Amino acid sequence: MNLEYRKLTPVEINLADELDRVVQGRPPVPDWVEYWGKTAWEYDRSVVAFDGDQLVGQAMSYSHAISVPGGAIVPCGGLSWVAVRPTHRRRGIMREIVQRQLRDYHDRGEPLAALFAEEAPIYGRFGWGVATWIDDLKIDSSRAELKEGVGVDGEIRFVDYDDAVSEFSPVHKQAMLQTPGMLARSEPFWVSRLRGNESPPGAPLKTLQVGCYFDGQCEGFASYRNDEQWEDGNPSGTVYIRDLVSSTPRASARLWRYFLEIDLMRTVEIARPPDEPIHWWLKDRRVVTRTISDGLYIRLVNVQEALAAAAYGADDSIAIEVIDDSCEWNTGTYLLDSGDAGSICDRTSREPDVTLRIEDLGSLYLGGVSAHSLHAGGRIEDHSGDGVARLQRLFESNVAPWPHLYY
Ligand SMILES: CC(C)(COP(=O)(O)OP(=O)(O)OC[C@H]1O[C@@H](n2cnc3c(N)ncnc32)[C@H](O)[C@@H]1OP(=O)(O)O)[C@@H](O)C(=O)NCCC(=O)NCCS
Repeated sequence: MNLEYRKLTPVEINLADELDRVVQGRPPVPDWVEYWGKTAWEYDRSVVAFDGDQLVGQAMSYSHAISVPGGAIVPCGGLSWVAVRPTHRRRGIMREIVQRQLRDYHDRGEPLAALFAEEAPIYGRFGWGVATWIDDLKIDSSRAELKEGVGVDGEIRFVDYDDAVSEFSPVHKQAMLQTPGMLARSEPFWVSRLRGNESPPGAPLKTLQVGCYFDGQCEGFASYRNDEQWEDGNPSGTVYIRDLVSSTPRASARLWRYFLEIDLMRTVEIARPPDEPIHWWLKDRRVVTRTISDGLYIRLVNVQEALAAAAYGADDSIAIEVIDDSCEWNTGTYLLDSGDAGSICDRTSREPDVTLRIEDLGSLYLGGVSAHSLHAGGRIEDHSGDGVARLQRLFESNVAPWPHLYY
């Protein structure tokens, strides 16, 4: 096996699509791949492996930007389209590709990297830790009733697809300031969220877009599709909500009322963060079935810059020792000073208060995973006796982190 690692070129898009189909077992979606390959893929951020003239391994990266606790927006490499041909598996091809991608994030000055994993055990070894949780909600809308007065104000309007991005962008930007872990959307990601990957521009729309307005001002939006079904002559359709973003709770409540009251539909399905307020608005919260799974994985590519970019929940000065086998430039002890003037992070020769691995710092970083729970799981060493409690106070977030992308 004589492997060549290099970048993919735009004319090789069909090779990448074919490899992805082989490993995913998905049907061809030529229009979508052509659109995505032209608009979203950054070919100079690809790393692929060829065995002779056969493409055997690949990973793409997107130039994302992500909101971090405190509201700053930080550059973030988004790893995606990871695939190795089944004939070449477990020979270290993915390892080589991911290591090259990590080095590239570092060289580009991106303090953070993020991904959604198809299989949970893969990426911890490269320093990504699960940082958000997905709560898949299945709601029996035929029984769901909202409490008196919830979601009765505000107006829902359909918004033409062509106007949707300009109409909804300000709401998305506002929500980003309030929500850690939210990923900024470039044009193709808006298209993907509003239409679904199966319908590229030009195809008939399956999804519908609505905005929620107060005094003519858009404060929330959603995209969804209705799936018609019948059972014994009775309607039993499902509303699949793909996107639901709001900058105010009142817009969120109004959108929920809209979705729970759609005629002919008996079920509403949506992925939400674990602190979704619908559970407090429903008269009977057991109309909701909840399934929790791992969401966005975060990796600190540059510990010092990433820690300094965020704002924390307490004033403190804590020495954190970080172990990072994949990006050795990170290994060391950092003094994180958090106070009114913001956060300062520098290397220190002080004895560490806590020691943890880089993937566990990734889990803590957005505030969606508790330090106490990581400690109970044997993931943090507490040298000072109060180190875990202090980490908890620093990193805990009032708002569950949520990417508002992909899921
Ligand atoms: C997952 C996949 C990319 C792995 O590629 P690969 O070249 O076989 O992986 P490597 O040989 O470089 O393995 C590197 C390490 O990851 C581990 N690993 C690889 N795939 C794994 C998996 N699915 N689950 C758990 N560990 C895995 C290997 O055991 C190895 O561990 P080690 O470092 O402790 O020895 C490949 O199997 C694949 O394409 N799968 C289908 C698509 C997919 O799941 N993509 C991931 C999308 S998020």
